[in-house]
Amino acid sequence: QSFDTVIRNARVATAADEFHSDIGILDGRIAALAVGLPAGQREIDAAGRYVTPGGIDSHVHFDQPTGDGSVMADDFFSGTTSAACGGTTTVIPFACQQKGQTLRAAVEDYHRRADGKPVIDYAFHLIVTDPTPRVLRDELPALINEGYTSFKIYMTYDALKLSDRDILETLSVARREGAMVMVHAENSDCIAWLTERLLAAGHTQPRYHAASRPMLVEREATHRAIALAELVDVPILVVHVSGRESVDQIRQAQNLGLKVYAETCPQYLFLTADALGCDDGFEGAQCICSPPPRDAANQQVIWDGLENGSFAVFSSDHAPFRYHGPDGKRAHGDNAAFNQVANGIPGVETRMALLWSEGVRRGRITPQDFVALTATNAARLYGLYPRKGSIAIGADADLVIWDEGGHIHLDNAMLHHNVDYTPYAGMCLSAWPAITLSRGEVVWDGQPRGAAGRGQFLPCLRPDPARPRRRAAELP
Ligand code: URP
Ligand code: ZN
Ligand code: ZN
Ligand code: ZN
Repeated sequence: QSFDTVIRNARVATAADEFHSDIGILDGRIAALAVGLPAGQREIDAAGRYVTPGGIDSHVHFDQPTGDGSVMADDFFSGTTSAACGGTTTVIPFACQQKGQTLRAAVEDYHRRADGKPVIDYAFHLIVTDPTPRVLRDELPALINEGYTSFKIYMTYDALKLSDRDILETLSVARREGAMVMVHAENSDCIAWLTERLLAAGHTQPRYHAASRPMLVEREATHRAIALAELVDVPILVVHVSGRESVDQIRQAQNLGLKVYAETCPQYLFLTADALGCDDGFEGAQCICSPPPRDAANQQVIWDGLENGSFAVFSSDHAPFRYHGPDGKRAHGDNAAFNQVANGIPGVETRMALLWSEGVRRGRITPQDFVALTATNAARLYGLYPRKGSIAIGADADLVIWDEGGHIHLDNAMLHHNVDYTPYAGMCLSAWPAITLSRGEVVWDGQPRGAAGRGQFLPCLRPDPARPRRRAAELP
């Protein structure tokens, strides 16, 4: 047996284990894990460096129309290239239904947007914004069957939000069909009321975005989402959790035995509300995202939650808008009010290195936590396991070989997204992926190497964590 590629002398980290091994790759899959494997056509010397599963970024937005004039800067080529250069080998962007559109049309639209472009593998989450009887009865079950086994629902944004009644109907379909539901939890009416008062007082600058969405609005919606899911008896996953009050709600539900999973993102570890501006300048628009970043005490709560298991996933929520030019953050002018600025920040390329550098290398989390949070758990929660998310015989050879101990000053010029800034500019990192392999092919080795269109669409399985709780009385 000869391998296509052998990675020699790897320090393999999985969500469970750590061991020294060679990795034999054949036909894009991991074919052998042992010391002293026979030679491959190609040899890569890992020289004792850490090798982890390629990242799964399960929350990214590529080429998603916003409907308000702002245009996302990354399409499926630049977005996936940026991901690969940062050690991510699978992305799960969204296929977003517009109100009035069928879900099927939304899925077809996003496949057209992706076709021929991705350099790494991709699946889709749906975003359900218009749960008509037809969507609930026919379309959603059919699409779940076809491999779109997770969808996001919104409790805020006029163009996206569902009423509590709609949420209950939608959750019921998820329960019956076995889909994972992601919830954007912020109270829409509270935000609208606060925004109106801030604007009336002349508080239009970017920094007031944070004041318009205090943690109370996130806490209330998180509580309500959990209650609705408890009523329907279905698991949910609360996305982009920003701080203590929401973590408290999630923790309490978990303690009661509910299947409530949570996601957090780099912005809640490495940014605070100060990033939106300490004066009345517009630069803070760069960091407008929702929920907004909080403060140092809340950053610590997020670190604690990553370490103690409150969070299952660490994803980027990459939502790329350019700062300069007329169609990104400034689509409504150079000094647009905060509520006119597109929400979202870029981060698909920096996610892995930020967490390895600041989490693993600073001793806040273990390499095993890192792998679980950046790859394995997402694979399980969204139905991509065991093909993705682990280093195991038969799994896709999606791998990152890490460079450690350097001194990398983060600067937008080193990144490959189509955004003209990074919120993390100036940070010093001590690690970056040296080589990223996707199904055994090098897609990053200091240069992006992935050809457009080599990425494959991944239909997802029904995720086991989406199953309703199995009470003893109901067990077979
Ligand atoms: O501000 C954010 N997070 N924009 C992206 C869309 C979303 O709600 O995740
Ligand atoms: Zn969201
Ligand atoms: Zn998002
Ligand atoms: Zn430095």
